Amino acid sequence: MQSITLRQPDDWHLHFRDNDMLAETVPATARCFARAIVMPNLVPPVTNAELAMAYKARIEAARPAGSQFEPLMTLYLTNQTTPADITAAKAAGVVACKLYPAGATTNSDAAVKGINALYPVFEQMEKDGVLLLIHGEVTESHVDIFDREKVFIDQYMAKIVKDFPGLKVVFEHITTADAADFVLGNGDNIAATITPQHLLLNRNDLLVGGVRPHNYCLPVLKRNTHQQRLREVVAQGSTKFFLGTDSAPHAKHRKENACGCAGCYSAWSAIELYAEVFEQLGAMDKFEAFASENGPDFYGLPRNTGTITLVKESWQVPDLVTLADGTEMVPFFAGQTLNWKLA
Ligand code: DOR
Ligand code: ZN
Repeated sequence: MQSITLRQPDDWHLHFRDNDMLAETVPATARCFARAIVMPNLVPPVTNAELAMAYKARIEAARPAGSQFEPLMTLYLTNQTTPADITAAKAAGVVACKLYPAGATTNSDAAVKGINALYPVFEQMEKDGVLLLIHGEVTESHVDIFDREKVFIDQYMAKIVKDFPGLKVVFEHITTADAADFVLGNGDNIAATITPQHLLLNRNDLLVGGVRPHNYCLPVLKRNTHQQRLREVVAQGSTKFFLGTDSAPHAKHRKENACGCAGCYSAWSAIELYAEVFEQLGAMDKFEAFASENGPDFYGLPRNTGTITLVKESWQVPDLVTLADGTEMVPFFAGQTLNWKLA
């Protein structure tokens, strides 16, 4: 296969950050994606409709000239979120709320302690048709980091999905066979996003031969048997799985650090890397549904009508991306050769 044309895809999970960073991150995503679900973990977080709409306007202002790219906005849930916040957000056009267990990841300190206290909020989301996006990891210090997703399923996810059958839940950036099988084994109200890094890499790619900070993200890469299960389920083409890059930019010096930040900045290579995965799996026929159909169908949004074309052509991911203010970032797969290129 020398080229593939698919319905224009969307990115159902990413981090744009804010202000000056938008001039870098928004064009990088708008080069191929029509829409993106924008994570709300800014400092301070996006906790209400007003903040979400102001953030949306800043993102729109950073689009390349003529771009129709559409940011889809989310709220950051806290223990102070009220049902009225949900209704106001829905009216303003917010499509989903993100649940971070407090301390789970970057800028999640203000997030949710005691998930059960949020049940009235979930009820309102179910009524209003606002999706619940979950970072599915427990944060208790006694739970091993490699077990945190599985323990979250057992302690919270299974109960939420059962208690709110009308609430659409996205299990974000799944990393384990347990999560994939949980999603497959439950009803139509649960689906999951999968990142390029969790399909391409496992924890050896993080730790063997030296610590590789640019492969460090959360949830952390798992053992290869989990990676294999994620690859299997996308190759099988279940409609419950779709594209969400979790592209998460951090300055180079904050990743290459004694206490390095979690996140892979994949916007410049993500669609090409997913193409590589589906080709490796002999499942190119399942690529379009994963990238461009399952996501909008689950969200209840129209599929895009345009197309993109990828061609079989080698190119190298740049070693560095430099922002206008001189800040350097190392993109995901920096310096490596990819076989698919956006035409
Ligand atoms: O690796 C990650 N980076 N995982 C997350 O959940 C958050 C993200 C970030 O904001 O940098
Ligand atoms: Zn994320």
